[in-house]
Amino acid sequence: MPSYTRSKAILAKNSKYIPGGVVSVNRVASPEITFVKAHGAYMWDADGNRYIDYHAAFAPHFLGHNDPHVTQAVHQVLQQGASLYGSGTTLLEGQLAEMICEHVPSVESVQFLNSGSEATYQAIRLARAVTERDHIIVIQGGYNGWHNDVSCNLMTPLADLGLRVSPGEYPYRPISAGIPIDHQKLVHIVNFNDLDSVRYVCEKYPIAALLTEPILQNIGIVKPEPSFLTGLRALADEFGFILIFDEIKTGFRHAIGGYASIAKVMPDLVVFGKAVANGYPIAVIGGKRRLMDFFAHSDPSKRVLLAGTYNAHPLPTIAAIATIERLLMNDGEVYRHVETLGARMQQGIEQIVSALGLCAVVARQGSAFCMYFMDHEPKDWHDLAEHHDFGLDTRMRKNLIEQGIYFFPVPVKQCSISAAHTEEDIVLTLEQIKQALARAAN
Ligand SMILES: Cc1ncc(COP(=O)(O)O)c(C=O)c1O
Repeated sequence: MPSYTRSKAILAKNSKYIPGGVVSVNRVASPEITFVKAHGAYMWDADGNRYIDYHAAFAPHFLGHNDPHVTQAVHQVLQQGASLYGSGTTLLEGQLAEMICEHVPSVESVQFLNSGSEATYQAIRLARAVTERDHIIVIQGGYNGWHNDVSCNLMTPLADLGLRVSPGEYPYRPISAGIPIDHQKLVHIVNFNDLDSVRYVCEKYPIAALLTEPILQNIGIVKPEPSFLTGLRALADEFGFILIFDEIKTGFRHAIGGYASIAKVMPDLVVFGKAVANGYPIAVIGGKRRLMDFFAHSDPSKRVLLAGTYNAHPLPTIAAIATIERLLMNDGEVYRHVETLGARMQQGIEQIVSALGLCAVVARQGSAFCMYFMDHEPKDWHDLAEHHDFGLDTRMRKNLIEQGIYFFPVPVKQCSISAAHTEEDIVLTLEQIKQALARAAN
């Protein structure tokens, strides 16, 4: 058993000054490990234990921690004396905006924010302004940030959800205190892959927007059925709501054009974050110019307030430019590399579970994967909550961490391979998965 003595002492000290000792509730994890250094595919904790990292800080580190090309670009910009000027436009924000508009098919115009939550907040506000409607649809099992519209129905316990509802909607189940009841009434929750329920809600309420991750990546990898995203596009056109893809996790990790470019379905608005700048804090909202122009509407009563002291700060902005440069190098070599490693990982895990006689499947999109201890890939949260063996999943993750492989220790959390992982890392990881699973299953 590795020692976590120093890790625990740091948490105890920090808890005196920070509620709970940790600055994001989503980072609270057991075992309580304090990381002090990371490079490429590896992280080290305060007690000197090394881990091969598949958590990637909830997915931004697509190139690996501290990618040399990105780090060098950041150093260079600092040496050149760049600062946050807070007045007028900048060369860097223009350069990044042009790159994104050039490479993302659904984006004609962009704005920059600091976090994914800010981006989903602004996308919903923009949709409400454009449509002059208040109600929105979000997906059970999706995570879209911390604000009132979306702090709900993530991993809702089955006992709370009850029987599958279709066509229909689930009650709003807040995952935060402090959300006004009146606000909750504007948010309608339906299952992923359930077009009938989207239609049902649209026939009952004036819907401004539907916001969805194109693959649910906060409950593993729950993929859209072939007709789901095209069906959403058709319903958006029929009912006049704004279709927003939350590509905070999928965007840039699966393709620079986002998962929309793979699925060939164009949303009206899209938000990106995380892998956009390989770990630096920046988020993007983009889409059709006719909608985006509401951020600069000549009529103040129609203008949507988008502001922020730190928007397009030079460090995350240059980090995003350097990340895109890396992703474009050698005709997308990074994507071919992670696909090879992802396929190797999937094949290896499938052999292990079959040799151990376990009921399990691997769901994967390129570099992102998740093991489900059930006999089919889940089609939505309800399916997953009903059939997955959460106990086995938790035990496997804890064993892996003891063995130096960092899968985030919460069941059904997606794993991320980065460009910095090697074939050897995958082989070593598979050996450890075999042992961890054998221990967990007994
Ligand atoms: C799909 C998705 N949307 C939005 C967010 C919120 O992003 P942030 O944590 O940067 O506010 C997250 C964060 O995990 C996410 O996974």
